[in-house]
Amino acid sequence: MAYYLITFSPTGGTARTAGILASAIADSWTAIDLLRAVPETNLTAEDVCLIALPSFGGRIPTTSAERLKSIRANGARAILLCVYGNRAYEDTLSELQDVLDDRGFRCIAAAAAIAEHSIIREFGKGRPDDADCAELAGFAEKIRERLENPVNSPLRVPGQHSAYKPYQNTPFVPAETDACVNCGTCAEACPTEAIGDAPEKIDPAKCIKCMRCEAVCPTGARKLDEKITAMLRERLAAVCGTRKANELFL
Ligand SMILES: Cc1cc2nc3c(=O)[nH]c(=O)nc-3n(C[C@H](O)[C@H](O)[C@H](O)COP(=O)(O)O)c2cc1C
Repeated sequence: MAYYLITFSPTGGTARTAGILASAIADSWTAIDLLRAVPETNLTAEDVCLIALPSFGGRIPTTSAERLKSIRANGARAILLCVYGNRAYEDTLSELQDVLDDRGFRCIAAAAAIAEHSIIREFGKGRPDDADCAELAGFAEKIRERLENPVNSPLRVPGQHSAYKPYQNTPFVPAETDACVNCGTCAEACPTEAIGDAPEKIDPAKCIKCMRCEAVCPTGARKLDEKITAMLRERLAAVCGTRKANELFL
């Protein structure tokens, strides 16, 4: 039996949350990074996978769904983790469950957990915090028990199956500023290869607005337009302001 930690984490919040849960389930995990193309991978029914994705507009990031197609699960057990920025996750878990069912996984547990909002970081600030870590560790114990004593009842998660919330790709792209030293770090790290050979050449059709370019920029040169940030902050304040609880499903 092998443990696989499969993540799509452009700015690190999803990976951090997944790491907290994973380390409380087993000591050693093989990492599969969905930020990059994934080679064809065959799992077995004994394997256990933790699949962790952020919620983008209440859906799973399109790129991660595409890359999961390279994995043939052959009945491997799946623990689903959706990480979101304290607004809502809507159809993220249900869509992830549908994708994993389609790839031949057996979905046995799921969680929706909060991390900092990667566009406006003041929402979900400091999360996952100590209380989240303790809660995730407690959930890991229940997952370990479930792995040892499987049940036949199907996993049920909130959200619609098939008729998902339509995804609205926002029109903004993080642009480079005068602080850009043309080092190419953002282009190298971009999960969709949306940034060309010059930093200002961003293909808006490829860009999924995941904020990875902003997060990795060594000089802090990549930024969203201030007016857009202010508009988003105001809009999100109404729905992200109060602390949301993690949700755990077995
Ligand atoms: C394009 C985009 C859309 C997002 N949509 C949502 C959302 O619908 N609900 C929410 O609560 N957080 C949303 N977030 C915040 C992320 O889900 C959250 O910050 C997550 O931790 C990011 O994962 P990462 O740190 O691994 O990149 C969004 C972030 C981005 C970049």
